[in-house]
Amino acid sequence: MFDISSIANGKQEEFYQSLHDFVQGIMYDEEDLIANLANVASLLYNTMENVNWAGFYLLKKEELVLGPFHGKPACIRIKVGEGVCGTAVSTGQTQRVDNVHLFEGHIPCDGDTNSEIVIPIYKKNEVVAVLDIDSPILHRFNEVDQRELEKITRYLSDGCNWEVTR
Ligand code: SME
Repeated sequence: MFDISSIANGKQEEFYQSLHDFVQGIMYDEEDLIANLANVASLLYNTMENVNWAGFYLLKKEELVLGPFHGKPACIRIKVGEGVCGTAVSTGQTQRVDNVHLFEGHIPCDGDTNSEIVIPIYKKNEVVAVLDIDSPILHRFNEVDQRELEKITRYLSDGCNWEVTR
């Protein structure tokens, strides 16, 4: 149904243009949160180079709880302020970590991970979840990745029914 083999893997900008088209395509006319998060996690995991984990944590009662993802099993609950994910929530800012071993409090879920990006997802000016992507190589994510992945979190914010998370 969705042939992701056509996603360009050449230039970074072309890759993200194709990825945005696919994300908007799979979410078209569908606002189910879990279905959309699951498909986007799959798209990211299966199309981004050098990625060993891609998925979501949902903020429930002031704690992050594991949501749809692709990769090895991960820790289920993360407190706000803890780890890279909890820091993204407490600061409200994207955390782009070039070397997770130098990030104080990093929570290691997959020993292969060396760098990581975590983007808070906002709904009505409040953080409701984070997108977390891990890489086995150092310095995997640059400012273009950050900008384009933040765009994807805005599609998810606008296109999904977040009421079910609370
Ligand atoms: N490394 C994250 C925990 C989640 S896993 O990477 C999937 C952190 O420090 O918050």
